[in-house]
Amino acid sequence: MARRIVITSGKGGVGKTTVTAFLGAYLASKGKRVVLLDLDFGLNNLDVSVGVEDKVIYDIIDAVEGRCRVKQAIIDCAQKNLFVIPSCHTFSLGINAQSVKLLIEGLSSSFDFILIDCPAGIDSGFTRSISCANEAIVVVNPTLQSLRDADKVLTILKSYELDAVNLVVNRARRDLMRKGLTVNSKEIENILKTPILSTVYESDEILLSKNCCATKSRALKYFKKLAESVINNAQNARDYTSVYGGLFKEKK
Ligand SMILES: Nc1ncnc2c1ncn2[C@@H]1O[C@H](COP(=O)(O)OP(=O)(O)OP(=O)(O)O)[C@@H](O)[C@H]1O
Ligand SMILES: [Mg+2]
Repeated sequence: MARRIVITSGKGGVGKTTVTAFLGAYLASKGKRVVLLDLDFGLNNLDVSVGVEDKVIYDIIDAVEGRCRVKQAIIDCAQKNLFVIPSCHTFSLGINAQSVKLLIEGLSSSFDFILIDCPAGIDSGFTRSISCANEAIVVVNPTLQSLRDADKVLTILKSYELDAVNLVVNRARRDLMRKGLTVNSKEIENILKTPILSTVYESDEILLSKNCCATKSRALKYFKKLAESVINNAQNARDYTSVYGGLFKEKK
């Protein structure tokens, strides 16, 4: 049975799609069979992040509404073991959570991981995405705005029977955390009372990366720790406030 992990945040633009694509690509590079599901209807871009936008013929709505078989909506990415079901390009109100849930359950026996890219906000698109998952990753940026929205999301997630709810701190800047200019990992865990699975650096390589499946994608390395934490079910919050003092000195 696949682990069905929804990547959510509340706040828009914090890196849900980026985390979904790169985490999927890294897990796939470790031999896990991974399918990415874009449930951000209308504002979808997961197909672009994995470099398959020119291959889209059918999308998730076609599969749910019976215009194609589910298999026909699954696109093979350049990274071995990585697949994606794209979202529709028009906003679709008609689709209900139950039909998407059934589609996902049908995929469960063929994959190790189903990663669900959730839309921003806490409306019906959010509810639909959460109800299809058995685990959640809440992506936060180290800013108070992002934490406030994540807090609302975490409160809602309590009413779902999820096996695991963890945070990923994305766009972390060690220099700013050390100077106390952004919240640090410990503060984030204390404020949100939720463990951090891993922290992903702010990086130009991620920002400029056009496709996470591109051979020798330099950005993939930033997701190694996160992928290992997901595989091992282990939390690995890095403390950005400590300063490395050299090989023979204690950490300050
Ligand atoms: N760690 C990072 N370092 C640098 N840039 C990043 C990082 N994570 C994400 N970005 C950039 O931030 C922008 C927004 O990311 P992304 O689209 O993944 O956010 P999102 O949460 O999915 O947004 P939306 O809520 O609109 O769906 C993108 O341009 C992406 O390249
Ligand atoms: Mg997105």
